Amino acid sequence: MFPKVRLRRLRRDNLRPLFKETKLSKEDLIVPIFVDENIRDLKPINSMPGYYRIPVEGIIKEIGLCLEKGLKAFILFGIPSYKDEIGSSAYAKDGVIQRAVRLAKKEFPDCVIITDVCLCEYTTHGHCGIVRNGKILNDETLPILGKIAVSHAESGADIVAPSGMMDGMVKAIRDALDNAGFSDVAIMSYAAKYASNLYSPFREAAESAYKFGDRKSYQMDFHNSDEALREVELDLKEGADIVMVKPALAYLDILYRIKKRFGVPTAAYNVSGEYSMVKAAIERGWLSDDVVYELLICIKRAGADLIITYHAKEIADNL
Ligand code: PBG
Ligand code: ZN
Repeated sequence: MFPKVRLRRLRRDNLRPLFKETKLSKEDLIVPIFVDENIRDLKPINSMPGYYRIPVEGIIKEIGLCLEKGLKAFILFGIPSYKDEIGSSAYAKDGVIQRAVRLAKKEFPDCVIITDVCLCEYTTHGHCGIVRNGKILNDETLPILGKIAVSHAESGADIVAPSGMMDGMVKAIRDALDNAGFSDVAIMSYAAKYASNLYSPFREAAESAYKFGDRKSYQMDFHNSDEALREVELDLKEGADIVMVKPALAYLDILYRIKKRFGVPTAAYNVSGEYSMVKAAIERGWLSDDVVYELLICIKRAGADLIITYHAKEIADNL
């Protein structure tokens, strides 16, 4: 007991670094990239200060810059040139993501390319599944997700990341990939993805806003926590290699429970709204930009092995 025990002893400036329990490295970070088929120059995203959509050919420069900073993993979102009811541009051979992935893997074979597998950016109604009579259909959506995943794998994706929260999506994608000879392509499932208000800047960035209703019939209710464990358990049984929690900062309890219970590779998505809140406060001078490092450390401390974050590039130089 005090005065013999003094926890401040190990907090002296020169000793403190020896006792850091949590570390953040560049390998932990995944950089989101918005690839837009309809533009020729970088296009700023209004609600995400410092973030841009890039044209398809721009992927090489963008990934090149990141690799120089030591960032090696990327998750790609596409803004296609056309949309329809079933999101067919999501699995087009020359779709925006397919082209971007081919370019990226040709130029940088060793970088890690993750592709978001969903319909919302590619459908006219903006929902993550097939719509009939105002309902988002589950089982009818699954074969399309399989097709998208296979087309991404054919283009060279290392990991596919289904984000639509359809039941059975991981199994449908695993089966489709295996049948097409892509048993080595991994699945990072958006397993515990909540119907959150923190995605709206992303929807501007990806032009993926829904045209009616909301996403509450497929994304999780933020009042719930036990249910997240069921989601993860099912996705693991269906063949997920990595599970994700989304959003991250207000959902660290979920992340902590999942990592503790399952002990599998776990990712956290530090989403667009979290980024924009922090950026807005920094822009106003209300917060120091040191807060970014703190928040990312906290996400890791809670149990994340990987963090998808729009802060990746700005923080990489400090790691
Ligand atoms: C689409 C998707 C969304 C995000 C990632 N994939 C938005 C949504 O569900 O409407 C959000 C990411 C972010 O806010 O940064 N399925
Ligand atoms: Zn979606």
